[in-house]
Amino acid sequence: MTARTAIVTGGASGIGEAISRRLAKEGKQVAIFDLNAEAAQATAASIQEQGGNAIGLQVDVTDRAGIESAVDKVRSNLGRPSILVNSAGLALDGPFLETTQESWKTSIAVNLTGTFDCCQVVIPHMVDEGWGRIVNISSSSFHSGAPGLAGYVAAKSGVVGLTKVLAREFGKLGITVNTVPPGFIDTPMFRRTVDSGFVDLAAQTAATPVGRIGEPEDIAVTCSFLISEEASYITGQVFGVNGGRNM
Ligand code: NAI
Repeated sequence: MTARTAIVTGGASGIGEAISRRLAKEGKQVAIFDLNAEAAQATAASIQEQGGNAIGLQVDVTDRAGIESAVDKVRSNLGRPSILVNSAGLALDGPFLETTQESWKTSIAVNLTGTFDCCQVVIPHMVDEGWGRIVNISSSSFHSGAPGLAGYVAAKSGVVGLTKVLAREFGKLGITVNTVPPGFIDTPMFRRTVDSGFVDLAAQTAATPVGRIGEPEDIAVTCSFLISEEASYITGQVFGVNGGRNM
């Protein structure tokens, strides 16, 4: 069988990068979609150096036309995409009463509508393939709430609902759709929240049953399982990967 082609949004940093690297190591052809063109190309080049097959494309998931043209490029360069991991995300907001319309709309646009658009553009290729796997990266804050992150948590909760709808609409066509809401994972995004004082690393580590913060690879291994051939009976599910913080 020809190697399957995967698209990983936000694939140039943190969780998305770990997923891109893992899928490439497992023989998938990987297209990295990221706002940061340089980082997307550098990650793809590094995967190629290690013997994998990857391309890096500058894509803003809030730009529907840009997604469509990038998916066309994937189709012609790597073949029909049948795996999609939506990891592009942004946590901003601030105290609720100070949250501006602009910040709310940006949170929803990147974290929720970006996932909707990528799914809507890629799913027809999966339908043609008669097989597909989607993993949407939401956030454990959907279980617990998070003060100061109204737009982000609302968007990530929406991602969980969207996942369930897509699982029901496309299950009979061989396409599974699941969501992974990560707990605290040591990435550049997480480090920014620690450096700004928003997250107390020692307190959060102590409050985690397994006694550590997660690594991007903890999420990558979960994605690798969910996109496998053998995971065909698993769809519409929420796979918490959070060290036991949310049960
Ligand atoms: P990160 O900041 O290290 O990586 C995010 C990537 O998304 C970056 O490469 C960035 O350039 C890209 N990106 C941002 N906006 C984009 C846009 N409009 N279009 C395309 N690419 C865009 O963040 P991290 O931690 O790896 O986060 C990955 C996902 O995991 C996000 O969806 C985040 O919300 C989620 N998450 C992360 C947690 C953590 O503790 N690190 C916890 C819960 C959820």
